[in-house]
Amino acid sequence: MRGRRSGICSKLTSTFLRKWWCVIAFSVLLLIFGIVIFVFFMTWVNMVIHKEIVLRNGSMTFDWWREPPVDPVMSVYIYNVTNADAFLNNGDKPILEELGPFVYIQHWEKVNLEFNDNDTLTFNQRKVFKFDELNSAGSEEDMVVVPNIPMLSATSQSKHAARFLRLAMASIMDILKIKPFVEVSVAQLLWGYEDPLLKLAKDVVSKEQKLPYEEFGLLYGKNGTAKDNVTVFTGGDDITHYGLIDTFNGRTHLPHWKTEECNRLNGSDGSIFPPQITKSTTLHVYDKDLCRLLPLRFEKEVETNGGVMGYRFTPPQDVFAEVAQNPENECFCPGGPPCTPHGLFNVSLCQYDSPIMLSFPHFYLADPKFLDAVEGISKPEKDKHGFFLDVQPDLGVSLRARARIQINLAVSQVTDIKQVATFPDILFPIMWFEDGVDGLPSDVTELLNLAATAPPIARSAISFGLIALGALLLLIAAACLWRSSKRQETLHLEGTSHYVKPSEKQKKDIAANGHPANGNGKTFETLNPAFLTGPENGATN
Ligand SMILES: *[C@@H]1O[C@H](CO)[C@@H](O)[C@H](O)[C@H]1NC(C)=O
Ligand SMILES: *[C@@H]1O[C@H](CO)[C@@H](O)[C@H](O)[C@H]1NC(C)=O
Ligand SMILES: *[C@@H]1O[C@H](CO)[C@@H](O)[C@H](O)[C@H]1NC(C)=O
Ligand SMILES: *[C@@H]1O[C@H](CO)[C@@H](O)[C@H](O)[C@H]1NC(C)=O
Ligand SMILES: *[C@@H]1O[C@H](CO)[C@@H](O)[C@H](O)[C@H]1NC(C)=O
Ligand SMILES: *[C@@H]1O[C@H](CO)[C@@H](O)[C@H](O)[C@H]1NC(C)=O
Ligand SMILES: *[C@@H]1O[C@H](CO)[C@@H](O)[C@H](O)[C@H]1NC(C)=O
Repeated sequence: MRGRRSGICSKLTSTFLRKWWCVIAFSVLLLIFGIVIFVFFMTWVNMVIHKEIVLRNGSMTFDWWREPPVDPVMSVYIYNVTNADAFLNNGDKPILEELGPFVYIQHWEKVNLEFNDNDTLTFNQRKVFKFDELNSAGSEEDMVVVPNIPMLSATSQSKHAARFLRLAMASIMDILKIKPFVEVSVAQLLWGYEDPLLKLAKDVVSKEQKLPYEEFGLLYGKNGTAKDNVTVFTGGDDITHYGLIDTFNGRTHLPHWKTEECNRLNGSDGSIFPPQITKSTTLHVYDKDLCRLLPLRFEKEVETNGGVMGYRFTPPQDVFAEVAQNPENECFCPGGPPCTPHGLFNVSLCQYDSPIMLSFPHFYLADPKFLDAVEGISKPEKDKHGFFLDVQPDLGVSLRARARIQINLAVSQVTDIKQVATFPDILFPIMWFEDGVDGLPSDVTELLNLAATAPPIARSAISFGLIALGALLLLIAAACLWRSSKRQETLHLEGTSHYVKPSEKQKKDIAANGHPANGNGKTFETLNPAFLTGPENGATN
């Protein structure tokens, strides 16, 4: 055994063979390299990506985030009441006619940007809406009949007030000739019209309780720069917070709900999310008017514009479910029980106590009784009335979105106020809208495609290339070693090999080891004393 071993070792010391030994070492190194790259390449790529997407002045993602290269489209559908008189006088079901879409092209930009020291940045969101007559099913000047929201809010709220207050209210409304339905243009309903009640309230009510405006519009004040100071994480210190809200007007939490969890604001505005989204990730979107975080869960894989693959995220079916079905919604019911009926979300605390209830359009996922209470609204369809968001999971970028919400007014009957005495308890749908993002520009989709497909290809190419090269070299080296050892043997046996040295050194070797170094009786060209002592010592230890 010992003899055989030293024989191989010494053979490997030959200058000719040492070359091949080096090649073997090199090829093994290549193999290891290839495997290491295969295992760690994606981690490295992700590290680079995470560094790259951080919101910092001058980076490409920052510019896209600050001023998205795509213009979101808002489509508004208004429920025109066609039998207001019969509804009030005869107790008929309200007959609604869905008008729309009224299409607005938006342009979003974040302004007054300021980088803070703690890897956050503060901004104001600017949204400019432009009416798109061409794609709309009507004009902004079309007249519609809708419930008088300021009036019905006031009367519904007065339900539990003193009776004399309600009577006073009735006479004021008489003087101001306020009626439970108003006929206004689409533009007025959305962007604001002067409302006598709000004007009065503004003049009369004490400063602290003052309503912020004397005009009423469902999107009043939304065209332009929002006053809200939003602070988001840049992802510089912790990529898992990338794009999430740190504070909204200085608050980290809403004040309205019962638990810390339900008051949280740390969601995204829907444009970017922390990268490395998986199918089990729950995304959270915050919108001021929604008054809470909206959770979104993975639904399926989809292909979006430009062939970019994405994950579709939708709100869970029970997101607005009644407490009996989804006990987690208990926290959104500070005044209850009774809590919000199935499929609605009570936002009155975020809407100056107006009895506004949100739902999905056409009461999708809500109690069917709401649909039955009115006429003229078709059955909800997931494709048309559902809410979804498609994201690129590696980068956390939104690819496509349909944010759809319906606004309803929960009217309470108040018989003391004669103008609304015949207005029954009803959930009156007013309108619904869809915020749609689609069709990122082709330079963006190309880059996203590249970011999604290039790293795995590069990983395979590099690691398999290295492994293949290593294996090939190893094979060649092994073959050569084997062949040369074969040849040496042959040469030695023929006794003509010039490699074979005279026996002077061989004798020395025998003297040192106490037996011939080569058990097979083979000789070798050189004896390296260092080599002799090194491994031999190791072997004897
Ligand atoms: C809305 O309904 C009213 C009847 O209540 C009707 O006069 C009006 O023309 C309708 N508006 C549109 C745009 O169809
Ligand atoms: C970004 O850098 C540009 C030029 O260097 C500067 O004009 C701009 O104010 C910076 N923006 C922010 C938000 O700091
Ligand atoms: C970061 O700084 C901003 C501005 O100074 C502040 O509003 C915010 O609360 C800070 N956030 C954290 C997480 O410290
Ligand atoms: C929004 O404001 C811009 C000016 O800032 C104006 O041109 C545009 O018409 C407004 N849009 C609507 C729908 O009023
Ligand atoms: C936003 O910040 C500005 C200046 O930092 C401040 O004047 C303003 O009151 C803030 N707005 C809100 C809504 O808090
Ligand atoms: C929001 O903050 C809470 C802790 O306050 C944390 O547990 C949760 O993971 C955060 N949500 C996101 C989406 O980061
Ligand atoms: C909506 O919430 C407000 C405030 O908590 C509450 O007073 C009101 O009764 C709720 N409305 C319904 C219909 O549950």
